[in-house]
Amino acid sequence: MGKTTRKVAIIGTGLVGSSAAYSIINQGICEELLMIDINKERAIGESLDLSHCIDFVNSRTKVRAASYSDLEDVDVAIITAGPPPKPGQTRLDTLGIGAKIMEDIVPQIMASGFDGIFLIASNPVDIITYHVWKLSGLPRHRVIGTGTSLDSSRLKTFLSEILDVDPRSISGYMMGEHGDSQFAAWSHTYVGGKPLLEILEERKEELGEIDLDEIVDKVRKVGFEILKRKGTTYYGIGNALAYITKSIFNDDHKIIALSCVLDGEYGEREICTGVPAVITREGIKEIIELRLTEEEQAKFKQSNAILRQYMESIGY
Ligand code: LAC
Repeated sequence: MGKTTRKVAIIGTGLVGSSAAYSIINQGICEELLMIDINKERAIGESLDLSHCIDFVNSRTKVRAASYSDLEDVDVAIITAGPPPKPGQTRLDTLGIGAKIMEDIVPQIMASGFDGIFLIASNPVDIITYHVWKLSGLPRHRVIGTGTSLDSSRLKTFLSEILDVDPRSISGYMMGEHGDSQFAAWSHTYVGGKPLLEILEERKEELGEIDLDEIVDKVRKVGFEILKRKGTTYYGIGNALAYITKSIFNDDHKIIALSCVLDGEYGEREICTGVPAVITREGIKEIIELRLTEEEQAKFKQSNAILRQYMESIGY
């Protein structure tokens, strides 16, 4: 059997989409990369520029500007289309525009015969992922949002600076909304297999009182710290998209905090929110139900209530 060609489409070739494309090409994650944007000239420009990377990397990716009708045999369709929040706005405030963009593009994608995996970064990503799931009619395990994957990475980065440990040796999740109501599952945060809370207790003398709420606040706000200085974020989310796409193609069975459609997990259904999930070549294989503390459960419920409030504004 011939080598199967791994094919990715990126819908929205702005800063997030082109950063994801650049990361995907540098890591040789797929053989074909289609770039689609409402601004066709932008998609052509990005594709041409990206095609000039190939001679300098280890594997060839054929990258080109494309149309929705080209998506029939695409394995992973990454959606980044949509505006960043304006100054003073939250990600949830962009829901109206984001939902309308999905109502325009998802039917065109499905009309191509697309039957792969949606990977969504467009904000507010949890509700947008739910909306794409409903618009697409695909099974829930194949409609995935970046969720709190980037937030969990930010959490581990902050912890790594406090503990002077490589963030990749820390296991921990931000959960809930990719936004102001997300929370840290501290009871399930480990450093090299040792509970973080035990470490902080044992090293209180050396580390002093670590304010965990302050760390969560920093994670919640750091996206806006970047946005106010450079207009938006794109390298972190771009790499998150590439990392998740690579995990899909490698059939890694990695556990990543993703925006998943819940159907009874954590006692919730008909909602999409950030939870640890096993990612495979088929999409989400399993949603990991952590045994949260009462405080963490309350924060999760509060976050979901906020999401449901905004979901109502687009008819859910
Ligand atoms: C951020 C965007 C992706 O948090 O929402 O950087």
